[in-house]
Amino acid sequence: MAIEKTLVLIKPDGQKRKLTGLAIDRLERSELELIAAKVVPVTRKLAEEHYEALKGKPFFENLVRFFLGEFHGIKNCKLLALVYKGENAVAEVRKIVGATNPEEADPKSIRGSFGKINPKNGIMENVIHASGNLEDAQREIALWFKKEDIAE
Ligand code: PPS
Repeated sequence: MAIEKTLVLIKPDGQKRKLTGLAIDRLERSELELIAAKVVPVTRKLAEEHYEALKGKPFFENLVRFFLGEFHGIKNCKLLALVYKGENAVAEVRKIVGATNPEEADPKSIRGSFGKINPKNGIMENVIHASGNLEDAQREIALWFKKEDIAE
């Protein structure tokens, strides 16, 4: 089993709905170790870089606006970013978080319990972001954290 690191972000809907503590509580029930935590101001540049692989998708602009807090009345949006470390951390966190689409996610997962698709704009308000694979995790951790902010 590989020791991995993975990135978690509490998205604007999760922040607005006060689900941060609950999400951390669910993640804390795993064997994974929390090795970094930071509240990060989100700029358009950071949002676009975070989702750079999705540039060109029809929902990209709305996804960026959602991430900037525009659909939740959040000005100067700041998101809580976390890094978890442990055996198979990427897959472990994804299991706790649930599938991207909240309607398809395990009802016991965070997204299955609390996520929704906004009927007005079709945005997946899925509460939390978790890196999809090891390569994404490494890229995303480097995007959100300086090396010295990670306690290893
Ligand atoms: S895709 O389309 O398969 O490449 O994308 P996927 O891996 O399923 O999702 C990547 C992120 O894009 C978000 N997403 C959406 N946001 C808004 N509206 C729609 N329709 C939509 N489809 C996908 C999805 O929530 C993923 O973001 P994260 O932060 O990883 O949850």
